[in-house]
Amino acid sequence: MIELKGITRRFGKTVAVDGIDLTIETGEVCVLVGSSGCGKSTTLRMINRLLPRSSGEILVDGEDVNDIDPQALRLNMGYVIQSTGLFPHWTVARNIGLVPDLLKWPARRREQRVNELLTLLGLDPETDAARFPHQLSGGQAQRVGVARALAGDPNILLMDEPFGALDAITRELLQQEMLRIQKQLNKTTVFVTHDIDEALRLATRIAVMDQGQIIQHDTPEAILRQPASAFVENLLGRGDRGLKLLALRTVGEVMERHPEPRRPASDTTGLNEADSLRVALSAMVWENVTQLPVLSKAGSEVGIVKREQLLQVRP
Ligand SMILES: Nc1ncnc2c1ncn2[C@@H]1O[C@H](COP(=O)(O)OP(=O)(O)OP(=O)(O)O)[C@@H](O)[C@H]1O
Ligand SMILES: [Mg+2]
Repeated sequence: MIELKGITRRFGKTVAVDGIDLTIETGEVCVLVGSSGCGKSTTLRMINRLLPRSSGEILVDGEDVNDIDPQALRLNMGYVIQSTGLFPHWTVARNIGLVPDLLKWPARRREQRVNELLTLLGLDPETDAARFPHQLSGGQAQRVGVARALAGDPNILLMDEPFGALDAITRELLQQEMLRIQKQLNKTTVFVTHDIDEALRLATRIAVMDQGQIIQHDTPEAILRQPASAFVENLLGRGDRGLKLLALRTVGEVMERHPEPRRPASDTTGLNEADSLRVALSAMVWENVTQLPVLSKAGSEVGIVKREQLLQVRP
């Protein structure tokens, strides 16, 4: 879907991006991760031609982006940035409706689309549509930024540290929302962050960048299991990589399922199938037990998870 071939960008003597090759498949979330100044934003902005490249090729569905009219190109690529870039003197509805407006959608369809997106992003069409950006919290403004990027139903989403300015709890909430929306819409996404946990959580594949180059490009699990260099190992953090590996798997994947659902003992702490193994281990440590029941949404016990199963996740 998106192919970068030998892409380089220089600013004077600085080589911001240094001959990178990267293929992003249709529907995947590719996360560019790396420390400040390694060339993540520059890479993203060459994809939608906000920046011209110095050399190399960028193909979208086989077509070089330089052969596509920049306006048309950007209408097909939603772009979300940390500072949201919302127009301060426009209402939320008008901000979200920007691209549908440019696409000359009839007013009714535009309004429907705005309401649909507000709802999708957990905002309230009744109260939030008429607000101005300064009347929103950081998290709400960020949601509006994502809604605006989705409004014209682009095939591609480019997101540059969209949740970077938010507190940890709001950030995690928006990451969950993003995973949910991604399941529903399946947009080809290039997501930039310097937060490795965010990368591990959201990515289909991660491209680790350092000094304008891609050091490793693989699935979160593969990168955790086999970091390509000491640089990647440090980025992952040696202290808790076992926990990070546990965080990638869910209880549902390893639990021993009962042949029939049972009634749980009255005072047990239970896990859900969707909980990560990291959550399961934490619960076992907290409860000081070696196994925990897994409960269904309806509250019946559908299986158990044992501590040994968690400790065997690496091989
Ligand atoms: N317009 C510009 N003029 C000159 N140098 C630039 C320009 N934009 C970026 N650079 C340089 O290119 C390099 C890569 O910058 P880039 O913004 O892509 O980094 P980044 O990985 O997005 O960093 P951060 O995590 O801090 O956002 C840096 O050395 C930066 O100083
Ligand atoms: Mg940047």
